[in-house]
Amino acid sequence: MFKKKRIAILTGGGDCPGINAVIRAVAKKAILEYGAEVVGVEDGYDGLVRNKWRKLEYNDVSGILTQGGTILGTSNAGNPYRYPVKKGNRLEFQDLSRTAIANARSLDVDCLVCIGGDGTMHIASDLFKDGVPVVGIPKTIDNDLRGTDITFGFDSAVYIATEGIDRLHSTAQSHHRVMIIEVMGRNAGWIALHSGVAGGGDIILIPEIPYDAEIIAAKVKERNRRGKRFSIVVVAEGARPKGGDVVVRRIVKESTDPIRLGGVGFVVGAQIEKITGIETRTVVMGHLQRGGSPTPFDRVLATRLGTRAVDLIENGEFGYMVAVKGNALRKVPLQDVAKGPRTVRSNDPLIASARAVGTCFGDQP
Ligand code: F6P
Repeated sequence: MFKKKRIAILTGGGDCPGINAVIRAVAKKAILEYGAEVVGVEDGYDGLVRNKWRKLEYNDVSGILTQGGTILGTSNAGNPYRYPVKKGNRLEFQDLSRTAIANARSLDVDCLVCIGGDGTMHIASDLFKDGVPVVGIPKTIDNDLRGTDITFGFDSAVYIATEGIDRLHSTAQSHHRVMIIEVMGRNAGWIALHSGVAGGGDIILIPEIPYDAEIIAAKVKERNRRGKRFSIVVVAEGARPKGGDVVVRRIVKESTDPIRLGGVGFVVGAQIEKITGIETRTVVMGHLQRGGSPTPFDRVLATRLGTRAVDLIENGEFGYMVAVKGNALRKVPLQDVAKGPRTVRSNDPLIASARAVGTCFGDQP
């Protein structure tokens, strides 16, 4: 008698549009094509350590394609290899990986599907080394995962940020102001670059190209001289001045990546106002970029990635993340993905295109 396949799904790190579409794709294909049993681990790796999971039936994953967030819950704390434990007022980190691995074994699953960004893939890679059959699926609005051209969630975040830029244009124009819009992305400028180009930002500041406030101000003044009495500045939260550092909003000690960036938009705004004398306002897009329904592109990508992950499981190919290369899907070893973030290269063709239409990156007039 054949043993029925059993698959566990876990969503880790920050949520983003499209996670439910992936859960649906994995679970539906596993159930429909292989008659598999599917279980969902709740709240990411935290749920693996605490043994929190529930069975996912076909009806649980039906009707969730367009829903934002994750029906399983997520957490960016709970790394089993560095699990935060409160001792009075102190936070201690313990290696609870053996508990997590024992829980994974007790679920009796053929594979643990880990949907997440670099933190999630790093842990997935370690679990695989420790004998857990794992397949990864790349998720993050930041688009900063190695081994894949794109992650699902990115297109939705760019769409939301672009809509923000579009809406700022009219008010900037009416009041003859400089409007700054700060977008997410951690230490990568993908969201700022793509939404900035899509929204026609006059100045785009990304972490990979340190800025000079005088150059930004000169661009604003030059636009004014040409009769454009407003400017739109798109700033990545990880942008930094030449010779300076990022603006840290808070430290989340228990998180796998404790530094939360944010606030550089206000710093840049104050500098522009001081140098140019032009009234400036700053808007932070923040978590709006992570909420709501995924774009059609992300729904399609999520469905492709999720169903491909099931193929890997069926072939017994563990320790890989499904990834996008050009228009095709491929698999990349998790250990390669875990080597660090993928940032924007200074020779990215989109930067050249943006410069060609007069966009300033704060490094040259
Ligand atoms: O990685 C996704 C992301 O939204 C980043 O762009 C941002 O820096 C961070 O997560 C915010 O994290 P939190 O939800 O913990 O504030």
